[in-house]
Amino acid sequence: DKSRGLQWGTCASFGRNGDAAVPDRCAGIEFDAITPDENGHTYFFKGDHLWKGFHGPAHPSKMFFKELDEHHHLGHVDAAFRMHNQEDQNVHDHIFFFLDNQVFSYYNHTLEAGYPKTIQEAFPGVPTDLDAAVECPQGECMTDSVLFFKGQDVLIYDIVTKTVKTKTWDHLPVCTSAFRWQEHYYCFHGHNFTRFNPVSGEVSGTYPKDARNYFMKCADFGHGGDRKAPKCSEVKLDAISVDNRGRSYFFSGPIYMRLDSRRDGLHAFPITRAWKEVTNGVDAAFSYTDKLYLIKGDQVYIYKADAHYTLIEGYPKTVREELGIEGTVDAAFLCPNQHTVHIFQGNRMRDVDLTATPRVITRDVSLPLSDIDAGLCGPDGIKVFKGSQYYFYESPMALATSRIAPFAQNITSEMMGCQD
Ligand SMILES: *[C@@H]1O[C@H](CO)[C@@H](O)[C@H](O)[C@H]1NC(C)=O
Ligand SMILES: *[C@@H]1O[C@H](CO)[C@@H](O)[C@H](O)[C@H]1NC(C)=O
Ligand SMILES: *[C@@H]1O[C@H](CO)[C@@H](O)[C@H](O)[C@H]1NC(C)=O
Repeated sequence: DKSRGLQWGTCASFGRNGDAAVPDRCAGIEFDAITPDENGHTYFFKGDHLWKGFHGPAHPSKMFFKELDEHHHLGHVDAAFRMHNQEDQNVHDHIFFFLDNQVFSYYNHTLEAGYPKTIQEAFPGVPTDLDAAVECPQGECMTDSVLFFKGQDVLIYDIVTKTVKTKTWDHLPVCTSAFRWQEHYYCFHGHNFTRFNPVSGEVSGTYPKDARNYFMKCADFGHGGDRKAPKCSEVKLDAISVDNRGRSYFFSGPIYMRLDSRRDGLHAFPITRAWKEVTNGVDAAFSYTDKLYLIKGDQVYIYKADAHYTLIEGYPKTVREELGIEGTVDAAFLCPNQHTVHIFQGNRMRDVDLTATPRVITRDVSLPLSDIDAGLCGPDGIKVFKGSQYYFYESPMALATSRIAPFAQNITSEMMGCQD
């Protein structure tokens, strides 16, 4: 797509009278609005142009959202967000655009009947001429909310009660667009962004950062937020697990990926972004009640799984202390609503009852497989991963009593987002 980008750039530099220049986001742009659509594509708006996704050229907004152009005198979008509310199917996953005192609701790139409406009618108590908007589901915010930004004020709009609370976050820059991505919240200002806590407004870490290093692909800038997916035949997992909130992760070397949020794109992140204490990769992972267990070397880290992960006080502890087993761990899994973790070490599977104190090994069997990378138990059975292949078992019992390994199946792009 690079040549196309250059073409657009060339048009801009010739800028005939009456043609709005085509903006170049690698030149350092202040976006008007940023929002994902119902398919997880992210749109970045500037003037009457937009970019779809983290790379590629600018397009006229009317190519994707036709009616915005019929109000051409407006020429830009003030703010936009994707409605997360699952209760009301009439609005779920709709994109709302705010222009001056008007709001447009789109689904499937089609303007909904009855729109545009005034902001006052659709979002009572929310002011006109907004700077930015971002959805904030319950769990990340106190209730299902939308955060609207205007100057240094943030208006927290409760979707259910349709009430507004105003806070002033004057430690934050004025956000000209705001974006929720992978459960984190970003205020964009100039060509920079600042990550903030959606409840307190608090900023932790080193900000602002240059958006060109993270949210777009620009020559001479960083990786553009994602790394290329590996080939399926080259995938090697270190660990895989699904937590009690349905978030599914795989770990490989220093990175992890979320598998359940694929519609926001598959992206690799450093493990330390979510589990800052785990600085050296993960050997095994399993989920038990509301906790995620990560094992590395002879250390066990136990995290409480809320919107974000918090290391439980007193951890890490040694594998011996926490699980009553010796040595390092290749892989582990625990089936939903069970209390026994199944731990792979070499060619052995050791079961540990997590309700017993001190821990005891309740079963210790040798398997026809050894040096397993990862294991996962779901409602349909157990997958045991080794290299780019996996073995399927109906139950822990079937696995424990197997005398020969079942047929090895290849990891597919459907499962892991790798390239076939
Ligand atoms: C989405 O819009 C396209 C054309 O605009 C139409 O063909 C398609 O049926 C629509 N899909 C849904 C799910 O409404
Ligand atoms: C962007 O951030 C850098 C520091 O990282 C700062 O020097 C610069 O002034 C910021 N620019 C804008 C437009 O916010
Ligand atoms: C798995 O992939 C390899 C190539 O990587 C191929 O030769 C083999 O036939 C595949 N096996 C199955 C069961 O699809």
